Amino acid sequence: MAVLALKPRSRVIFALLLAMVSVSRATLDAHYYDQTCPQAEKIILQTVQNATRHDPKVPARLLRMFFHDCFIRGCDASLLLDSTPGNQAEKDGPPNISVRAFYVIDDAKAKLEMACPHTVSCADIIAIAARDVVTMAGGPSWNVLKGRKDGRVSNASETINLPAPTFNVTQLLQSFAERGLGLKDLVALSGGHTLGFSHCSSFDARLRNFSSTHDIDPTLNHAFAQLLKNECPKPNRNRNAGQFLDATSSTFDNDYYRRLVAGEGVFGSDQALYSDYRTRWIVNLFAQDQSLFFSEFAASMVRLGNVGVRENGEVRIKCRAVN
Ligand SMILES: *[C@@H]1O[C@H](CO)[C@@H](O)[C@H](O)[C@H]1NC(C)=O
Ligand SMILES: *[C@@H]1O[C@H](CO)[C@@H](O)[C@H](O)[C@H]1NC(C)=O
Ligand SMILES: *[C@@H]1O[C@H](CO)[C@@H](O)[C@H](O)[C@H]1NC(C)=O
Ligand SMILES: *[C@@H]1O[C@H](CO)[C@@H](O)[C@H](O)[C@H]1NC(C)=O
Ligand SMILES: *[C@@H]1O[C@H](CO)[C@@H](O)[C@H](O)[C@H]1NC(C)=O
Repeated sequence: MAVLALKPRSRVIFALLLAMVSVSRATLDAHYYDQTCPQAEKIILQTVQNATRHDPKVPARLLRMFFHDCFIRGCDASLLLDSTPGNQAEKDGPPNISVRAFYVIDDAKAKLEMACPHTVSCADIIAIAARDVVTMAGGPSWNVLKGRKDGRVSNASETINLPAPTFNVTQLLQSFAERGLGLKDLVALSGGHTLGFSHCSSFDARLRNFSSTHDIDPTLNHAFAQLLKNECPKPNRNRNAGQFLDATSSTFDNDYYRRLVAGEGVFGSDQALYSDYRTRWIVNLFAQDQSLFFSEFAASMVRLGNVGVRENGEVRIKCRAVN
């Protein structure tokens, strides 16, 4: 309850409270490829930049790819494995995760195999690409720790363990805690939605027949709810219909948090961060102070990148298949 009394901008207390976040057990290294593949990051950056020039949705997709990969089996590139006759892989699991842009990773991997064969893991490529898209979109930069190995298992049934867009803060915190991530990580990493787009199916339950007492989710701003209803009529012939998750969808900024304060969070799990006292104060801090959001986002991305890291495993030659 102490957090309730905190005034916004009390950065020192904020930092102290949140210093107790997860302890990483991985021994990743920012200089991991300095000797073996010094050009690795440059090759990945150029590939990501080129892909983004051809498709502006690439940044949001690569950022999402990193979250999804790390949340299931840790950051081991299990999400990249294709299904095989005996095995349905994560990428084909429910919910039909709109993680695309796998070709960008394949492209970077092919170039890396030419430059330094059998050296750079697919898991590290995703982590580097996720940092690059954030920086390219105007967000922070940070040193990506490297040295992850790639996993050999990908199981479609495990994707049900991803946090759902309908989760409340209790459920979100539990899901993050299972991965060694804390309260601040939850709020900061949710800010990745600053680059996101959602199809109607992930939020339209908030717009009609929401509960026995409310037709529309009462945490949703009324005018914004009308806008979403117009975007997502029922029935809807446009299968691509949906909504950007903040007002500046190709810029990495703190507008996401300002939308939450205004009751314009698209997912129930976004708006819940503002409705729940445990996270509201952090939303307010980030809404008011973009540089604080940037530094906390970068720190949380490093922690996310440590989730379930494997130091024994393989470096795949092709990211879609085990060696
Ligand atoms: C740039 O991206 C496009 C679209 O993905 C691809 O066709 C092309 O080969 C890429 N060029 C380079 C130099 O990577
Ligand atoms: C998921 O969606 C993609 C693209 O819409 C489609 O090709 C694929 O078959 C779907 N997979 C499943 C398991 O529904
Ligand atoms: C995938 O996970 C399910 C549920 O845990 C399990 O029953 C199944 O055997 C797993 N499949 C593989 C190929 O490991
Ligand atoms: C969160 O959702 C769970 C599952 O629906 C429910 O049991 C719990 O009471 C909810 N907690 C809050 C704080 O709303
Ligand atoms: C709303 O939900 C109730 C109870 O589940 C159902 O009977 C009713 O048909 C629904 N209304 C609409 C417009 O979907």
